[in-house]
Amino acid sequence: MPETEGIVDYGREEVTGRPEDRGKFRTVSLRNLWASEPYFHNGSITSMEAAIRHELDQSGMPYTDEDLRLITTFIDKSLRDITNLAVRPAKVPSGLEMPIDPPGSR
Ligand code: HEM
Repeated sequence: MPETEGIVDYGREEVTGRPEDRGKFRTVSLRNLWASEPYFHNGSITSMEAAIRHELDQSGMPYTDEDLRLITTFIDKSLRDITNLAVRPAKVPSGLEMPIDPPGSR
């Protein structure tokens, strides 16, 4: 689980109170991953390739840079679904305007 300095997050344990649930987080969809940065429960990784590298490192399986490139390309291109993009509201529930991504950040 990627850590963010200064933030402690025990994941599901904070909901169930069970120590065996420490560090458990919901597995999210990889559809339209290109558009859903920053990644992981704490937004600690901003690049799609770095997030996938993190998962491969955690898997314990050996992989090459070419494997990483192919998996990243597959998720980027084949799991891109422009018919089902997330819709950003103009305002958050408090009424504040939604922040705009800086130009070139996508
Ligand atoms: C090649 C295999 C895998 C790839 C490419 C992959 C990729 C990813 C990516 C990109 C994320 C971040 C998604 C986001 O935040 O929007 C993620 C999160 C996650 N993955 Fe994987 N994953 C792989 C295998 C696995 C396996 C085998 C497991 C479980 C046994 C797993 C469990 C999770 C969980 C629980 C999260 C959410 C963690 C968090 O939010 O902190 N993944 N995965």
